[in-house]
Amino acid sequence: MSINKQLKIGDLTAKLPIIQGGMGVGVSRSSLAGAVAKEGGVGIISTAQIGYDEEGFEKDQAACNNRAIHKHIKRAKELAQGNGLVGVNIMVALKHYAEHVKEAVAAGADVIISGAGLPMNLPELVSETCRTKIAPIVSSKRAAQLILKMWAHKYDRTADFLVVEGPKAGGHLGFSREQLDEIDTMDYDEEIRQIIACKEEYEKRYEKKIPVIVAGGNLRQSRY
Ligand SMILES: Cc1cc2nc3c(=O)[nH]c(=O)nc-3n(C[C@H](O)[C@H](O)[C@H](O)COP(=O)(O)O)c2cc1C
Repeated sequence: MSINKQLKIGDLTAKLPIIQGGMGVGVSRSSLAGAVAKEGGVGIISTAQIGYDEEGFEKDQAACNNRAIHKHIKRAKELAQGNGLVGVNIMVALKHYAEHVKEAVAAGADVIISGAGLPMNLPELVSETCRTKIAPIVSSKRAAQLILKMWAHKYDRTADFLVVEGPKAGGHLGFSREQLDEIDTMDYDEEIRQIIACKEEYEKRYEKKIPVIVAGGNLRQSRY
């Protein structure tokens, strides 16, 4: 398969328009994310209990996780040798969400992707002037609208890109048992079209492109 189009997120560029999903606990850390970035893609480190093998984890998990966030971002960037992008996946549901975001920014993460809840205060934690780009994971037009409206209203800011995870992505997405029972007949393409339409309003308002990256069985729909 040949892929010609690069992924541009503001002033950052990945030669390959592929974002590797964040996987905790310990599945996507620096080795995987660094290897993906080295090939020109976007390697994502999951911060969920990332410091599980740090010394003293039993006694102070929060400190070990913060230390590991820093260490793995730095290491992934070294492995990438200047290629691709290195980011983190930080679940809103994590106990020390804000600390993880701040640590990732301090370590120079290129992107922060946040789902498993609505990242309503993410712009507050990541200054618009820093390098780090921010993206919520959404699974519905409703969630996309809610987040983009709130970010614009409260912070006069919009997302740098959106990650759309449909019902086949798994994880903490908010689909009901009944919806999942009908997964094969569900018209999720329509939801994606509506999410794309929703972000277009903010692209005009903020005069910037908001790439949409889809995951979980919807690969053909990405727009960037
Ligand atoms: C082992 C494993 C761990 C995961 N951990 C996380 C996580 O820490 N945070 C998160 O938001 N999603 C997590 N996910 C969800 C994946 O990132 C998401 O489902 C995936 O990107 C879907 O895209 P794909 O099906 O196109 O690969 C995890 C998935 C797997 C399989």
